[in-house]
Amino acid sequence: MKQITVEARITAVTARVAPNMTITLDSQTALAIGDAEADLLFRAARTTYQWADDPVTDDELQAAWDLAKFGPTAMNSLPLRFAVVRSAEAKQRLIALMPDGNKPKVEAAPVTLVLGYDHDFHERMGTLFPHAAGIADTFAPQTEKRHEMGALNAHLQTGYLLLALRSAGLAAGPMHAADYAGVDAAFFAGTGVKSFLVVNVGHAQGAGTEFPRLPRLDLDEVATVH
Ligand SMILES: Cc1cc2nc3c(=O)[nH]c(=O)nc-3n(C[C@H](O)[C@H](O)[C@H](O)COP(=O)(O)O)c2cc1C
Repeated sequence: MKQITVEARITAVTARVAPNMTITLDSQTALAIGDAEADLLFRAARTTYQWADDPVTDDELQAAWDLAKFGPTAMNSLPLRFAVVRSAEAKQRLIALMPDGNKPKVEAAPVTLVLGYDHDFHERMGTLFPHAAGIADTFAPQTEKRHEMGALNAHLQTGYLLLALRSAGLAAGPMHAADYAGVDAAFFAGTGVKSFLVVNVGHAQGAGTEFPRLPRLDLDEVATVH
């Protein structure tokens, strides 16, 4: 790999992606973000089960969404929807629908998000994808395709949201519910939203988990070059 100085890389990166921004790159990697940001988003961030007492503010959730919403989706469809479960009453409704092993984890979290995809996402596409005339009408009869497209793109948005939550200084703990039909009835009644994941959110206490970091696969194990 061609070696360049950190200073040269900063100049090249800022000129390319953010001419008015100052980026501080701390390490000799090929990253375009600094070490602190790489740690916050990936290297030090853990799936979290242990929470500090600090509340999750509406401003933090807003800030996270205001990043996550820019993650790309097919035809700019943005099918992800979520319920913010804050109250003790709503928490209990959700906990009843979780597998036993995950019940105390939801109980312990300051806030829990219930994620789903809107099967009727096409109804917003006149606004979200305005240059494709009649796109909502085209999708209306395609119910299978809307399940497939809604699920795929909401799953992508889930990844963006997890990283956006970390960007807002929050930690996240994604986990499965036991009864998604029950979750839909409890949190998305009267809508086309199909739930698929639950995400605990808060400020991590310490590392946020007692589990050691599990191994990851290397690039040469996951990618082939052609
Ligand atoms: C889609 C998804 C489903 C998960 N389901 C559960 C779950 O049901 N219960 C649980 O305790 N953890 C669950 N996890 C947490 C993973 O085990 C954890 O994110 C993974 O081991 C990486 O941990 P790390 O971020 O600390 O490295 C889930 C994570 C994801 C992304």
